[in-house]
Amino acid sequence: MPAFSPDSSPVTRHLSLTASAVAERAEQLLPEYRQIIANIAPEAGFGGIWESEMFLFYAAVKPFAPKQILESGRARGKSTLLLARCFPQSQIVSVEYERESNNALAAEAKLKNESNVDLLYGDSRQILPERLEAGDAILIDGPKDFRAIKLAIDLLQTGKPCAVFVHDFPPNSPQRKFVEHNFSNAFFGDDPLFLDFRELDVERDPRPHSQRGYGIFVCLPPPLPPLGLRPRLRLFFTT
Ligand SMILES: C[S@@+](CC[C@H](N)C(=O)[O-])C[C@H]1O[C@@H](n2cnc3c(N)ncnc32)[C@H](O)[C@@H]1O
Repeated sequence: MPAFSPDSSPVTRHLSLTASAVAERAEQLLPEYRQIIANIAPEAGFGGIWESEMFLFYAAVKPFAPKQILESGRARGKSTLLLARCFPQSQIVSVEYERESNNALAAEAKLKNESNVDLLYGDSRQILPERLEAGDAILIDGPKDFRAIKLAIDLLQTGKPCAVFVHDFPPNSPQRKFVEHNFSNAFFGDDPLFLDFRELDVERDPRPHSQRGYGIFVCLPPPLPPLGLRPRLRLFFTT
């Protein structure tokens, strides 16, 4: 008789947020994702979330069909446009701190015809908790580091998000070590299961892989694990 695994029934597997379940879904979703990005003009050289990284978010979040996706950190709107096109049935609420910048103007121009996007300005640490609804998916790409973890925890402890993704968790960084120690259910975008999907980026930016500079996502699936005193203190002193 096969061993029972809570991840193994078709229904739980479908909604499971583990690296292996997401990689399995990704294989099936790859053709439709390729079609989505083929209709978006590449914008290499300005940074932002890579197509392969957004594919990880897509494969993880799509089965939850969130009514709303909250994005923190829009810059030129590359990730916002990908979200808008990947999730046409979702409302994308995108919050950016810097209103007076060329990036803000570029994002507004890029997104002006996307009917499912709300462009907000302000500090997402205030705005996201106010806008959060049950079942929302979250993408945080600014603030960074421990401020991002603190925001993710604030949102997760409401019990409302279906998934929280945070960008910029490279190996050996303090923020990554913190998550590795305290979130046993987290997984990262540089898991070997996902690396083949970086082929998607070759089509978008011909620079060699070594020059592309991946930020690396962490996925923090609910529920929020219990945090001990030391990690709580570490976050308490994060401003
Ligand atoms: C790396 S950029 C985002 C790139 C964008 N996600 C993309 O893929 O094109 C980070 C952005 O986060 C914004 N940011 C930083 N802290 C923020 C905060 N507390 N609330 C909202 N936006 C913030 C910065 O102003 C910056 O534009």
